[in-house]
Amino acid sequence: MPSLEVTPTTGIAPEVEQARFLRACRNLPVDRTPIWIMRQAGRYLPEYRALREHYDLLQICEHPELAAEVSLQPLRRFDLDAAILFSDIMIPLRPIGVDLQIVENVGPVIARPIRDAAAVAALRPLEPEADVPYVLQTIRLMRQELGSKTPLIGFAGGPFTLASYLVEGKPSRDFAQTKGLMYTQPETWHALMARLAQVVTRFLQAQVAAGVQAVQLFDSWVGALSPRDYREYVQPYSAAIFQAISTVPTIHFGTDTATLLQEMYQAGGDVIGLDWRIDLDRARQQLGPSAAVQGNLDPTLLLAPGEVWVRQAREILALNGDRPGHIFNLGHGIRPDTPPDAVARLVDTVHGWEGT
Ligand code: CP3
Repeated sequence: MPSLEVTPTTGIAPEVEQARFLRACRNLPVDRTPIWIMRQAGRYLPEYRALREHYDLLQICEHPELAAEVSLQPLRRFDLDAAILFSDIMIPLRPIGVDLQIVENVGPVIARPIRDAAAVAALRPLEPEADVPYVLQTIRLMRQELGSKTPLIGFAGGPFTLASYLVEGKPSRDFAQTKGLMYTQPETWHALMARLAQVVTRFLQAQVAAGVQAVQLFDSWVGALSPRDYREYVQPYSAAIFQAISTVPTIHFGTDTATLLQEMYQAGGDVIGLDWRIDLDRARQQLGPSAAVQGNLDPTLLLAPGEVWVRQAREILALNGDRPGHIFNLGHGIRPDTPPDAVARLVDTVHGWEGT
């Protein structure tokens, strides 16, 4: 539930609490609709590709100067309302005993997928200061760079999405192995989810302590579940994570979740992430006035000429109307083939919106 009080978070630059992104997370009125973009640092930017010629993704994540540099790249180009830590949802899994690689144009690949109780028992708890010091150091560096103007978003993968990579061993469309484990070895499933919820909780708490002003839980693939299976197999674990994060606003994101929004909001999150498969006003109606929302332009639109999607971006703003609690974003991560100029135009369109 959003708190109406503006609580200072880390004591660093308290003015940042008035930034329009954080006010919108708390459902407070803003002068302009805030915008940031999922995967705003990444391959659509030539300066990111140039750095990637020398370092792979994990190397960037593990070196605070590089990770901070990459996070700041989009902010130098565009008037974005938040920065997001440059990392990956898989980062906290390597130190707990998962042998994983991130394969270009594929995604995370696990050497020995987790399919039984022994494999779950072998996952050890995360000790963020010892296991992922570079993530916390990146946050500290970025807080210094960003000063009082721009909030920094931390993040973690949602428990279902992390479990799906661990069980499948690679990206999947139907999640057959994951659901197989869930339905045929429920105790193993629940043990895996409990361990992941604990890892994510500690990871997010450490990010907050290091200086992030908001956190997003990326449960990107949870839309593969029926509402009843979500309630039984996922919701308690996401709820435990959100309950443990009380000092900064939280964003709860998934895709294909038009039929799960109320269940996700019940699990937690001050802001609910929306993909493009639902009209924004319909989602807000389902969620009620206390939920803020984030979204929801189809990222593929940005490949089309501006006259096609500027209209659609304005339609989204109009569907929100003058309600507080809307953060503009794409419905999922920006595509690597997006022209950077489209992002500049989108930011102008959102900030220039004067209402219907
Ligand atoms: O948003 C940002 O700018 C912050 C950085 C960020 C990355 N990954 C860097 C990255 C964030 C927030 C993520 C989250 C993430 N990672 C998710 C959840 C969000 C979503 O898109 O649903 C997921 C499912 C992953 C797992 C993952 N990592 C995938 C599917 C891929 C793509 C593989 C590919 O090559 O297409 C990755 C790699 C990855 N993580 C890239 C980036 C910028 C690709 C670029 C590269 O290899 O340099």
